[in-house]
Parts: sequence; C-alpha cells; structure tokens
Amino acid sequence: MQFDVFSLFPEVFPSYLDSSILHRAQEMGRLRVDLHNIRDWATDKHHITDEPPYGGGGGMVMKPEPVFAAVEGILGDPPCCPVILMTPQGELLTQKKANSLVEFSRLAIVAGHYEGIDERVREHLVTEEISIGDYVLTGGELPALVLIDILTRLIPGVLGDPQAAEKDSHASGLLEHPHYTRPENYRGWIVPEVLRSGHHAKIDRWRRNQSLRRTLERRVELLTDFELSEEDIEFLDQLKNAGSSGLDDKPASE
Ligand code: ADE
Repeated sequence: MQFDVFSLFPEVFPSYLDSSILHRAQEMGRLRVDLHNIRDWATDKHHITDEPPYGGGGGMVMKPEPVFAAVEGILGDPPCCPVILMTPQGELLTQKKANSLVEFSRLAIVAGHYEGIDERVREHLVTEEISIGDYVLTGGELPALVLIDILTRLIPGVLGDPQAAEKDSHASGLLEHPHYTRPENYRGWIVPEVLRSGHHAKIDRWRRNQSLRRTLERRVELLTDFELSEEDIEFLDQLKNAGSSGLDDKPASE
C-alpha cells in the first residue's frame, strides 16, 4: 500500500514511520510512504502557505494554490487515487472504515493546519474527510500517522500472526480479552488458572467471556450490533444477574 502525505511539517513523520511494525512493513515492500512538503509548491518569494481569512476573524487559513499544486503535481489532475483530508469535521475513523480503506493500493493524505484549509480544497480536490476523534489537535499530522498505522496493520503479511488483526479489540466487534505472560505470580497477582490449563476449548470460552464482560462494562453500545451466540447471551445474563461483583472467571488482576 502506498501513501502520499502532504503536510507543512513533514519532518514530524520519520521517527514514527521508521520504528517497529511500520518500519518492517516498509522493509518488506508492503508499505511505502512518500512525504511531500506543501511549502515546496508555494511559488511566491516567501513560500507563503497561509493567509488571514476573508471576512475577518482570528487565525490563519491554508491557501488553496500550494495544496492543489502539490497534490496534482504528484498525483495528476484529476488525482489518480482518493485524496483524504484529516480534519475534526470528517467521518469518524473506525475499524470498519479502516477495513474499507485498506482496499485501495494508494491513498493521498492531506494534513491540515492552522485554523483550517480553504474550502475550495475540500470541494474540488479532497474526496474524503476523516476525523480520528471528537477533539481538535493542532494539525493533521498525528491523525495522518494514526490512519497510516491502522491501515498498515491490515495489509496482508505485515503482522507476524496472520490472525492478529482479526483478534484485536474492535475487529471482531467486541473489545479484546485480557492478556498475561510470565511470570505466573507477580507480587501475588496470579495468572488465571484456566490460561495455564492447556485446555484450548476452555481457554477460548474464557477469552470470549472476558471480551463480552469488557464490552458490557466499557462499551455497551457495541453489543447492539453484535451477533451473540446462545452461550454469549447466557453468560451476559449471568453477569447482569451477578451485579457488579461479577462471576468467578474474573481475571486475577481485576
Ligand atoms: N486535525 C485536528 N484535529 C483532528 C482530528 N480530531 N481528526 C483529524 N484531523 C484533525
């Protein structure tokens, strides 16, 4: 998968892109990220990329010409792939949205800055607007990295365990179960016995129940769209009847 990122601050990207799984994905040839500095496409003497808004008011607005010139200069006119603007006004980024975006082999990402970006960029260049949450950051660079990260994990072959992405919180529609590793006893906090039993069917059921419990406790609205099995429903009923004290299979750490 290939990304073309258009930003006024491309220097903030490399340290994250050159670490861990994103680095490995690039080494494997499954991920390519080309960073483009919008300022390089500003043709005036001072390479101005922002100006005060028409109509007054505070802040600065990103000018349209350098953004159009950068995106069209790299991707053609019209651009050869979707052009995503990271903005708090966009569609909320969810795992489901990520699953649909990973189908594209190439995506352009425009990271907005200052008070905003000239509306003509939105209307005539950008094909999608995406938000990473209902809060406002100083710019679209972190959101762009979030988008690249979430999509890279979904590229086939990038994660060591091919099922890892499917097991994640949100991928199945439920939050993920708790994880434990050695030591078995840490400061008296013991790993649940079932996980040490070697009994795979029981472990699967325990994990499923923990996912259900977490989702019920933390994000109950996710259960509305989730297809529950009879066993799931039975477990959730037991949980609700047991009240806040919960059931025996609560992890030792909780
Ligand atoms: N730019 C500033 N805040 C943002 C957000 N929440 N999502 C995407 N882009 C942004």
